[in-house]
Amino acid sequence: MRVVILKSSDDVAEFAANIVTGLVNARAEAKKPCVLGLATGGTPLGLYRQLVDRCAQGKISFRGVTTFNLDEYVGVPPEHVQSYHYYMHDSLFKHVDFDENANHIPKTWNCNLTESAEAYEKAIKEHGGIDLQILGIGTDGHIGFNEVGSSLGSRTRLKTLTRQTRLDNARFFSIEEEVPRMALTMGIATILESRAIVLMATGKSKASAIAGCVEGPVSANNPSSSLQLHPNVTIVLDEEAASLLKHQEYYRDSEAVRHSL
Ligand code: PGA
Repeated sequence: MRVVILKSSDDVAEFAANIVTGLVNARAEAKKPCVLGLATGGTPLGLYRQLVDRCAQGKISFRGVTTFNLDEYVGVPPEHVQSYHYYMHDSLFKHVDFDENANHIPKTWNCNLTESAEAYEKAIKEHGGIDLQILGIGTDGHIGFNEVGSSLGSRTRLKTLTRQTRLDNARFFSIEEEVPRMALTMGIATILESRAIVLMATGKSKASAIAGCVEGPVSANNPSSSLQLHPNVTIVLDEEAASLLKHQEYYRDSEAVRHSL
């Protein structure tokens, strides 16, 4: 795992934006398709702002890029301001130049959820898999909505949210009772099939989950620890999120050596 520790959340957003921009532009130059896996929540907002700005400046174009989001709440219609459909449209899609029908988010409204999950897996495969998956992390170590106890072999499916996740996300709703109890989420195995993964985390509330993700045992007890099994993962952190890592000095040294090459 490459662990990059940066000063601020803005630096984390910029670092991730550079990776996305590099990949999208390289694919466009090679005239090859590009499939991005996208995340929601507070953490990637800075990344999306950077991508919107860069697109406006002509530094990146999303023509020919396909996206698959990690998850969507169950019981929230797509036009609801707290749905992830709304979030993605509002923070990225409507501001940039994606082709029509390029953006995929699990369907959870007016549909059979089991069939929807199967269709989502099929659509990812039909597009040749995900080139780069962006991830946040829950304070409980979830990735997507793969909560504690998620099978490391899990595929897209229905998942019950933990009380901790519902409390964490209550800030986006007017009352805690409004936070949905379930979501449709890509599974851990689905995520691990991505060719590259960038996990972003900022703030002290993520420090314990990040310590488990990077330095803990691989365990369904911290689903993010499954990333240790993936050969191409970059964990991008601000200093607070990195603060409980035992080997911080080594990660910083590794980055310094990488830059000196
Ligand atoms: P956050 O959520 O970015 O809002 O902290 C991350 C997550 O739950 O994956």
